[in-house]
Amino acid sequence: MTTDDLFSRPDASTPFPEERLQELHRQISHHDRLYYEQAKPEITDREYDSLYRELVDLERAHPELLSSDSPTQKVGGRPQGSFAQVQHLLPMQSLDNTYSGEEIGNFVERLQRLLPGEKIPMTIEPKVDGVAIALLYEKGRLIRAATRGDGTLGDEVTRNIRTIREIPSRLHGHAPALLEVRGEIYLPKETFALINAERDEQGLPVFANPRNAAAGTLKQLDPNIVAERKLAAVFYGYGGFEPSEGVSLPETMEQFFDCLKAWGLPVNPRHWLASDAAGVMAAIREIGKIRRNFTFETDGAVIKVDRIGQHSLLGSTSKAPRWAIAYKYEPEQARTRLLDITVQVGRSGVLTPVAELDPVLVAGSTVSRATLHNEEEIIRKDLRIGDWVMVEKAGDVIPAVATVLVAERDGTERVFRMPEFCPACAAPVIRSEGEVAVRCTNPGCAAQIRRRIEYFASRQAMDIAGLGEAVVAQLSDASLVRDIADLYELNKEKLLPLERMGEKSVNNLLEAIAASREQPLWRLLAGLGIPHVGVTAARTLASSFGTIDRLAAATIEELCAVEEIGEIMAVAICGWFHDSQIGKLLEKLRDSGLNFGERDPKGSAPTVCGPFNGTTWVLTGTLTIPREKAAEIIRSLGGKVSGSVSAKTTYLLAGEEAGSKLEKAEKLGVKVVNEEEFRKLIS
Ligand code: IVH
Repeated sequence: MTTDDLFSRPDASTPFPEERLQELHRQISHHDRLYYEQAKPEITDREYDSLYRELVDLERAHPELLSSDSPTQKVGGRPQGSFAQVQHLLPMQSLDNTYSGEEIGNFVERLQRLLPGEKIPMTIEPKVDGVAIALLYEKGRLIRAATRGDGTLGDEVTRNIRTIREIPSRLHGHAPALLEVRGEIYLPKETFALINAERDEQGLPVFANPRNAAAGTLKQLDPNIVAERKLAAVFYGYGGFEPSEGVSLPETMEQFFDCLKAWGLPVNPRHWLASDAAGVMAAIREIGKIRRNFTFETDGAVIKVDRIGQHSLLGSTSKAPRWAIAYKYEPEQARTRLLDITVQVGRSGVLTPVAELDPVLVAGSTVSRATLHNEEEIIRKDLRIGDWVMVEKAGDVIPAVATVLVAERDGTERVFRMPEFCPACAAPVIRSEGEVAVRCTNPGCAAQIRRRIEYFASRQAMDIAGLGEAVVAQLSDASLVRDIADLYELNKEKLLPLERMGEKSVNNLLEAIAASREQPLWRLLAGLGIPHVGVTAARTLASSFGTIDRLAAATIEELCAVEEIGEIMAVAICGWFHDSQIGKLLEKLRDSGLNFGERDPKGSAPTVCGPFNGTTWVLTGTLTIPREKAAEIIRSLGGKVSGSVSAKTTYLLAGEEAGSKLEKAEKLGVKVVNEEEFRKLIS
């Protein structure tokens, strides 16, 4: 058997999952024997990891095929009814907090007092605001993952952790005999924003911040849900280490971070080194400036004595080590007035109260509105119209009302009550049992229709120029559109009588609508508003099924077999296609000549071959073309587009007034191109 045979593997949608599963069992056991018993591995750790990962994916897609003799079930992987408790090798301690330069000075002085005459270099790194985790690797193989729990006993969450792609099931290269590595599991800020937007839309309670979302996710008993949420990790310490031949405990934290990286474990994107309090404070200030660029939320910096030998000399108190300390940044908040609370009706009828604020600058941008999520949230905060409030950004992204300044009240403030009738169509609203959300019960509600059409026409979906909020409102008020299919029935006679609709704008709008008939299938899927299906899933579905008809005919099992599609989404997709109203809508759209996938170029799968293959782009600043257009060009040439700059970014396309992303790219040495250079590249 050659390595090529091994890795020319089908994906999780393989037509013969049982056979592939058996094959993977066989191969993994074979390589385990070679590795553990004969110390003669035939494949690299990365290759082993790829096999292991495929098995995990296949078992997720076909839970019915999971057997107790699977290599994934051998250690710490029992099917879960609740989490088992496990003991950490060493207690998982906490850190003392500091809030000022003075306290940092005291910390450094104390170190010097405890280690007189010694040089004490220190590392400084971002404090990741996530959920602490301890992974146990024996002979390089991940055998257990546990949360912190009470510090001594934690929950065993191995199966959930195995769904996190960047965590290797086997350490790369030479591994120690035993390693309990410690770090933080977090939900990337962008994913947090998406999950919350979706939960809000569905009337589910939103997560207050990415940390709560990560903690809630890790506690899920169903690893499929965990996989869907796309957690990430950063590792920064150890709780146990036994050397193996040629692998001993590094002498410094710096070297330890390098080892973690070499073993394939994700680490903080950067760390700083300092020899005195002034140097530590300079690093803390620098992290404070760039911390919003990190993919994780960070509320502080961690300062550690670099030399590991000095750790044992310094020891710990019962709560925290003496060789490390956390510095906490002030959360950025701004004071403003809550002018009003309005109620918005979403695509699926959920009523959301929105704070209308006196505009105020917070963490770099002006905030004038903030979602209040639901009535319970308003009652919990005792928020009243006219109140003075403190505003912040949850997860650095989403504006939120943090606290009410009750002492500032003068008695003129008004209590808010959720309306009993939809503010848009006056239909009675309902609150389903177990849901905090209130919904408008009228499927023909004009506000819901508007939201659905706006979403359909938006840049991320069908990208119909000129069909923004105002025009959609006009069309809906004039009863010209009741669903998205009505857009394709519009003509000059219907549009010209409308206000502000001249010959030219009518022509432009009709042309844009007509052109949207040719949009690729993924855009149509993204715009239809299938529950749980956003742009990424729409792309995956389009490339996996090719046409709407094939997608509509897919079973839950077939959908689950697609990598990235979990059970919840699969059930939602099936349910959506089985709704007879949806069936009628799709037929109308088909009759209107929309591309149901048949007209997509052959193999318009995610892997487009082109000159940008293998490159990852980030877009920032003001460009003369819309960003989504630029992103599409990049994708059509084979490149990937990402929202944030990291070491994986190949190019930053920077328009006018590029800000923090440009700064970060320059720091990381990412190649920056301006629009003119971009145009040359694409031509
Ligand atoms: S070192 C003995 N480094 O913050 C604990 N901790 O508030 C040594 N944390 O318990 C921990 N980022 O869960 C360390 N870069 C980092 C961290 C970090 C986040 C967490 C960790 C710790 C908690 C204390």
